[in-house]
Amino acid sequence: MRVLLFTGKGGVGKTTAAAATATLAAERGLKTLVVSTDTAHSLADALAVPPSREPVQAAPGLYLQQVDTQKALERHWGELREYARNVLRELGLDEITSEEITVLPGAEEIIALLELREQARSGHWDVIVVDCAPTAETLRLLALPEALDWHVSRLLPGVRRVLRLVSPVIRNVAKVSAPEGAVLSAGERLHRGLMEVRELLTGDDTSVRLVLTPEAVVVAEARRTLTSLSLYGYRVDGVVANRVFPAEDADDWRRGWVEAQARQLEEIHHSFAPLPVHTVPYLPAEPIGPRALSEVAAEMYGDADPFAPPSGEPPMRVGGDELVLALPLADKEAVDLGRKGEDLIVTAGPYRRVIALPAALARRGIASAVLRDGHLRVRFETGGAK
Ligand SMILES: Nc1ncnc2c1ncn2[C@@H]1O[C@H](COP(=O)(O)OP(=O)(O)O)[C@@H](O)[C@H]1O
Ligand SMILES: [Mg+2]
Repeated sequence: MRVLLFTGKGGVGKTTAAAATATLAAERGLKTLVVSTDTAHSLADALAVPPSREPVQAAPGLYLQQVDTQKALERHWGELREYARNVLRELGLDEITSEEITVLPGAEEIIALLELREQARSGHWDVIVVDCAPTAETLRLLALPEALDWHVSRLLPGVRRVLRLVSPVIRNVAKVSAPEGAVLSAGERLHRGLMEVRELLTGDDTSVRLVLTPEAVVVAEARRTLTSLSLYGYRVDGVVANRVFPAEDADDWRRGWVEAQARQLEEIHHSFAPLPVHTVPYLPAEPIGPRALSEVAAEMYGDADPFAPPSGEPPMRVGGDELVLALPLADKEAVDLGRKGEDLIVTAGPYRRVIALPAALARRGIASAVLRDGHLRVRFETGGAK
């Protein structure tokens, strides 16, 4: 099963690109599901189908799932969020930690991803296309299972142990919320679910396509997104340059745009190489419905096979004494490396990832680290414990 994620800045054409790709997949006879994790549910509008809670057929072999996040949220989330906050507060965790946990209120999207996992597990689909929320949110969201893992795997066993010992005391004296067994296991279920989502989204059959328009501001953001996606372990396998003005019959106004876009397109090819750049022209009308989307897909991919397994290197490799993390387009000044116990903490600008080191490296000191050609190479000391 191939999973394709589409992300990019607001309004650049993520939903359109996702819907067009899904339409093409179905036309090729692949059983296709398209879902949105964006709370702005425009997929149904793009595919011209009525809103519905069950997967609805948008074209032969193409199903759209809209998640009723509100309902699901009411069911699961409230207690868990409260619970997480309380536990952290009671454990007296420092500022940074409680700040990190504020990523939890991406709840609606998380629910959508949990639903996605259900669909992925069902074995029904050859292709799942995900229309993601705009850049920053998606990133935080995608990083979340790992951040959560970091918290939960360290906290939960401890929390449970502590609670087992002292919960009567806590209940009586400190009036803190000793969770009932049921709540705790709901937390663990959630955690396991999120780890599975992450595994799915960083797996060998999943890739991300970055959607942009050839405008300086949009390109700048897309560059940062590429770096941070790679930081978090997601494989990007293409760029979609949408809304490219056709050059023919241009008046002065359009000529200005055509020239400006041509400069940006050159920059895009240069920046994102070796990723393929799929261009889509600025169409004379909004591409709505399967026929228009199918034309968008034809423009977008040409002869390329958008459903082939993702090519290129995985974002992180460990071999011998070395850990190599792809950080394309990262700024040397913005990259930082830290160590916390057996974890490696990599910062790239505003993004941070906590990498649990494999056992072979976990107890060894860092000998050197360099950022070169878009790769962070961390070499560990040889010969046993630090
Ligand atoms: N190549 C294109 N030509 C003309 N209109 C487009 C094109 N791509 C997208 N649109 C329109 O632009 C609007 C925003 O696109 P959408 O895919 O919803 O963006 P996003 O999901 O990134 O917010 C929609 O009305 C869509 O129909
Ligand atoms: Mg959208």
